[in-house]
Parts: sequence; C-alpha cells; structure tokens
Amino acid sequence: MKADKASRTSDVTAAMRAIHLVRHGEPKIFKDPYALRLTSRRWRTIIGNPLLYRLLFRTDLYGWIHPVIGDIVARTRYAEDLLDSAVRQGVSQYVLLGAGMDSFALRRPEWTASLMVFEIDHPATQQRKKKRIAAMGTPLPKNHFFLPVDFERESLAAALSRSSFSTEAPAFFSWLGTLVYIEKHAALQTLSDVASCAAKGSRIVFTYCEPEPLEGKTSSETFQRMLRATRRRGEPMVTGFHDEALLGELHRLGFRVEERLFPDEIRRRYFWNRTDGLTMLDHFRFLCARVVREERPALAV
Ligand SMILES: C[S@@+](CC[C@H](N)C(=O)[O-])C[C@H]1O[C@@H](n2cnc3c(N)ncnc32)[C@H](O)[C@@H]1O
Repeated sequence: MKADKASRTSDVTAAMRAIHLVRHGEPKIFKDPYALRLTSRRWRTIIGNPLLYRLLFRTDLYGWIHPVIGDIVARTRYAEDLLDSAVRQGVSQYVLLGAGMDSFALRRPEWTASLMVFEIDHPATQQRKKKRIAAMGTPLPKNHFFLPVDFERESLAAALSRSSFSTEAPAFFSWLGTLVYIEKHAALQTLSDVASCAAKGSRIVFTYCEPEPLEGKTSSETFQRMLRATRRRGEPMVTGFHDEALLGELHRLGFRVEERLFPDEIRRRYFWNRTDGLTMLDHFRFLCARVVREERPALAV
C-alpha cells in the first residue's frame, strides 16, 4: 500500500459484506448491518440499485466474485465464533489487526461492554474510517481505541506500548485478509510482536495462503481474477507461506497452532446448507494459534 493512500480493498470487503446481507439468501453466514454505510459511495450506489447490481453481479463482469464474498464472510464469522468462546473464558481485550471497515465496535455492543477494543490499521485507511463513522453519527464505545500503524514502517509492539493495551491480560487478535498484502518480513515481525506483547494464553486468528496461487499458479479462474483486481487497485497480494514452514515459524515465535481450516473444511462448516451456490474461495486457510511461550522475550520496539 502507498503511505498516503487509504486501502481500496477494505472498501471492497465492506461492500462484499453488504452484498451478503442485502442480496444473498438465508442462512446468512455473517451479518454486518453497518457494512453498506462503511463502504465507498460508488459501492453503495451499485448495491442499492437492483438493476445495476444484476448487471454487474449476475454477469461475467463481477459474477466470478461470489466465492470471494464467501471467504470474507466466513473468515469474520470464524474469528468472532472463537472470540465468543475466548470472552467466555475471561478475555477482555480484542485487537483487530488490519481492521479495514470491520464494524465490530458498532455492531456488537453486548461484547464491547466488557471488552477493550483496539483497531489497528494503516493510518490512511483508519483516517477514512473515522470520517465515515463520524458522518454516520453513531457513537463508538468508550473502551474502543484507534491505533494507526503501517506494519511495514512501524512495529505493532511500539504501537501497543503507546496504548492502554495490557500485556498481562489475555487478548484475542484477529488479522483477516491482511497478511497477504504486507511484505514477508513485516508479517513475521507482526506475528513476533503478538507473541511478545500478548499474555500467555492469548490467541490470534488469521488468514493466509501458500505462495504459488499468489504467483498465479492456480487453475481457479476466480482466484486469478481476484489477483488481477487487487493489483489494479494498487494492492497486490505479495506474501504467502507454505503450510509447514508457517507452522515452524509459529512454533519458533512461541505459538501453538490450535486449528487450521482448509477451504474444503470451511465449505463443510459454513456452506453445506446453502441453496444459492455461495461457497468458499480456493486456497485461503483460516488459522487459530495460542501464545504458549514461557518467557516473554524483550520487546523489539
Ligand atoms: C482487504 S482489507 C481487509 C480489512 C478487514 N480485515 C476485513 O476483513 O474487512 C486489507 C487491510 O489491510 C490493511 N493494510 C494493508 N497494508 C497494510 C500495512 N502495511 N499496514 C497496516 N495495514 C495494512 C489495509 O489498510 C486494509 O484495512
């Protein structure tokens, strides 16, 4: 991402959540009633106009994108299902890394009553989100904090140390649809910062993909078109991890992987009962890991 430009893919993901709510059938995998208001005016116009929507999304123009929508709604559902059980076990801090236009803080008042919510994102994207929320006039909870961080220029540890985040209380981190956009060294540094800043027992949920599909080595037409679309928006997907190498890195950093779901398992879990054909995109994995390291390494701030 360019230093001064807000993410366009974050508008796309909000628009895809809005499409799922407004235009897809039941059962909904995930409901975000704020998504339409948090996306760009252009997307609002398209989604709000049934004729325009049909022209784009029921034809070859954007018809290919539905599995991308499946990925976007399923990953948030997955993260929030796990967050739910973490909160029941006493977790009191939720950190959204690369939050984009995720409306968690507005959407889940029953959770924000007991949770400190830290939204971390690229400064330009976060600025734009603040403006949109201000324009909506919906107040954010008192225990919600925006922390601007460019993962390629600043460490997560430094940003958290400037905030009221507690390194002693277990936390839940989500990092959805973001790792692929940042350079590998910055992705590993961010994971390392989570392992070093978070209390033992904290969890992180994130999505990733192996490198080959990101290089275009895939037979999935949808995946190829998605790669071209993100490149056109100036946000190429650049970082993938091989499954076993990633497990090794996570182990080295002090995590224990608790669950990793591959596309077929995600389809079985969330899409088995659909009649509208909505499904999960190929290649992306959902992973949940727990901080298990005994000693806290010195913070790399
Ligand atoms: C596709 S959006 C996903 C947003 C959100 N997690 C979701 O699922 O809707 C990618 C997000 O990554 C963030 N991002 C990309 N590069 C970044 C960087 N270098 N530092 C911080 N955030 C970055 C963008 O600002 C954007 O919010």
